Amino acid sequence: MTLPKIELHLHLEGAAPPAFVRGLATEKKIDISGIFDDRGNYAYTDFWHFLKVYEAATSVLTTPADYARLTRAVLAESAASGVIYSECFLSPDFCGGRDVGAWREYLHAIREAAEEAERQDGITLRGIVTPIRHFGPEKARETALCAAETAGDWLVGFGLAGDEKVGRPKDFAWSFDCAREAGLRLTCHAGEWGGPDSVRDAVRDLRVERIGHGVRAIEDPALVDELAEAGIVLEVCPGSNVALKLYPNFRAHPIEKLMERGVKVTVSTDDPPFFHTTMAREYDALAEAFGWDDGVFRQIADTSIRAAFCMEETRDKILKRLEKAHA
Ligand code: ADE
Ligand code: ZN
Repeated sequence: MTLPKIELHLHLEGAAPPAFVRGLATEKKIDISGIFDDRGNYAYTDFWHFLKVYEAATSVLTTPADYARLTRAVLAESAASGVIYSECFLSPDFCGGRDVGAWREYLHAIREAAEEAERQDGITLRGIVTPIRHFGPEKARETALCAAETAGDWLVGFGLAGDEKVGRPKDFAWSFDCAREAGLRLTCHAGEWGGPDSVRDAVRDLRVERIGHGVRAIEDPALVDELAEAGIVLEVCPGSNVALKLYPNFRAHPIEKLMERGVKVTVSTDDPPFFHTTMAREYDALAEAFGWDDGVFRQIADTSIRAAFCMEETRDKILKRLEKAHA
């Protein structure tokens, strides 16, 4: 599908193609052969194993130059799928071990690579810092300080990724307050492995305006109404949820029901090569499962760019491109 697409939920390391990671592993003589299957794809058994494989793959990314190469590879793939605006999750945990000086160097390299992609492929990228929940609240504070130091027109958001079953959102309230005070906009993974209460807790205790996934809100009708009423935006990643067996197939996914109940939904890939997906494949699978036409996808793109954390000037530019494409 060639419609212009907006992606709001993409983990930069999670978007690394397996061949890219294998190449770096060979160059650096790091043995991570155990994370691939016989066909060279990432191999994992469930979400928790996926997180381990993800961290092993990330271990080959050791310099700002590696991240610059990764950014170029990821954005080329996104642009080929028709993505014109993307927000990606970045972790100072992986980029410089939460040292602010090192983090600035990684960020600079990623940003330069993104600017090159914008010139060449017409895709705009912005960054969202995410601490890793299972690394704990203490490390999240250091991550929040890195984010606050570099907040601006490119680094626009703060979130929380990692194992949703570890700890509670309120353990991270200090970090989210720090990020908010620095002008960053807020999102949090919830309602993927945690039930509806995990979404409630994230909204109440962290005061986020978007939720990463959030789809399990569907299990609580009152919460669905609250999300619709409050205009909370869900970063829905249907292919990720199907690959990780949260739902058996696209048809069984609650995205359409959430939308019909008035919740603002957007569509993203999460960690595309891990889940054998791309934005084009997500759109095709949704069209097939629900019979959605261009009008529905236009509405999703519109909701997405209005929920983007970028500055107004960037939003206006992307909105104009969407209008032109649908004229
Ligand atoms: N890190 C990378 N992908 C993730 C996901 N889907 N949920 C939580 N943490 C992640
Ligand atoms: Zn995610």
